[in-house]
Amino acid sequence: MAKKLYIKTYGCQMNVYDSERIAEVLAPIGFVLSDTSDDADMVILNTCHIREKAAEKVYSELGRLRKQKATKEKAGGRMILGVTGCVAQAEGAEVLKRAPYVDLVFGPQTYHRLPEMVARAVRQHGQVLDTDFPEDNKFDSLPSTRTVEGATAFLTVQEGCDKFCTYCVVPYTRGAEYSRPVGQVLKEAQALVRAGAVEITVLGQNVNAYHGTGTDGEEWGLAQLIREIAAIKGLDRIRYITSYPAEMTDELIEAHADIAKLMPYLHLPIQSGADSVLKAMNRQHTVAHYKTIVQKLRKAVPDIALSSDFIVGFPGETDADFEETLKLVEEIQFIQTYSFKYSARPGTPAALLDSQDEYHVPEAVKATRLARLQAALNGNTLAFNLGAVGQTYPVLLERLGKTPGYLVGRSPYMQTVVVAAPEHFLHTIQNVLMTQAGPNSLQGELVNSAQRATA
Ligand code: SAH
Ligand code: SF4
Ligand code: F3S
Repeated sequence: MAKKLYIKTYGCQMNVYDSERIAEVLAPIGFVLSDTSDDADMVILNTCHIREKAAEKVYSELGRLRKQKATKEKAGGRMILGVTGCVAQAEGAEVLKRAPYVDLVFGPQTYHRLPEMVARAVRQHGQVLDTDFPEDNKFDSLPSTRTVEGATAFLTVQEGCDKFCTYCVVPYTRGAEYSRPVGQVLKEAQALVRAGAVEITVLGQNVNAYHGTGTDGEEWGLAQLIREIAAIKGLDRIRYITSYPAEMTDELIEAHADIAKLMPYLHLPIQSGADSVLKAMNRQHTVAHYKTIVQKLRKAVPDIALSSDFIVGFPGETDADFEETLKLVEEIQFIQTYSFKYSARPGTPAALLDSQDEYHVPEAVKATRLARLQAALNGNTLAFNLGAVGQTYPVLLERLGKTPGYLVGRSPYMQTVVVAAPEHFLHTIQNVLMTQAGPNSLQGELVNSAQRATA
């Protein structure tokens, strides 16, 4: 009989990808995905350690699951409870101590061994901990078939990070930078397209640092990899995330100009608009360097839309530093941004700085800076959306809308677009005239009447 598997995913797209692969690893031993933890035979939390709040969420969720597990056991069943992702990697045995009812703790690099781990947990009725950075690479052992839910898919091509930004846990939780070989990536991309993907987002913690072994045995960069992926018939759109500014090569910028399938949108986190803060963060770019990259990108692709990440209240950030961030935001006009209050992470160099009074930025100051930054950024997003009204964009219709008769999709610039369209247009790209704009989405009308008539 099929066993019910529920996976809850926190954090970044890399975790979303890993959760999909975990389900694929567990399918051959009888687990079928369920959309609730009620009565599940196995529950896995795929966790994020990036900020304190993210990590704490996991423990409150575990508390809730403990009760469900007890109920299941009272009824004579068993719920295997697993924790993976970056909290599992960072805290390991600590998770088992804080939540002793957890059965499995495994890192993002060991989930290909899950069938073995599950068997051990069942056999011993005891806890299993596997947070190695193993010699055998998980990508070599994962199933070669892929399932795709909608029209878009994630594909991890690079993992880990050697940059060591002073605030960040990722180099510790994901390990050293690793790039998958081109041949392996292409096979997976083809499998995704066969399974229905119209758009692929190529993923890596540092995706533009990709340097995999090419089909010719030479080392290939991301631009060359994307060029090969773009040759796959049936695939219409390619995106990639997340890029490190100092790794933005001219070759990759050129690729934006001449690969039509590569979407005119780039997420390029700068983190701060002040050079002194960037230096203390150990980012390898200055503000001027970042602006030069933006100039080159806009020269290559005049309509390219940029988004970014910011941290406010990094230890030692002054009011003047923060004003420089606001100035930068005004200047670049990011269409979308993610901004966070600095969160001290155990074991990182910035946490040491933060523990000293003269560097620590008080919570109230962080909150004020975040609110001001977000107000500025939201203004930019709305202005960009309003500018779209009257334009016609190709929209990939990804899902059913809340209102019957409507579909929801994405413009090339990642804007959410709501449009009245027949259901069989789902997972296709249609031309849509933008008629109304708000801060979070646009409304539009189908303009391709020929296709509408034959629909
Ligand atoms: N590899 C990506 C970032 C991944 S983490 C990059 O280099 O840009 C996603 C975002 O979380 C980061 O861009 C940063 O803005 C934020 N972040 C990371 N560590 C943080 C911390 N300790 N406190 C607050 N925000 C943090
Ligand atoms: Fe973290 Fe910096 Fe690596 Fe991004 S580049 S994952 S912020 S250490
Ligand atoms: Fe979080 Fe790990 Fe991703 S810390 S952001 S899940 S790499």
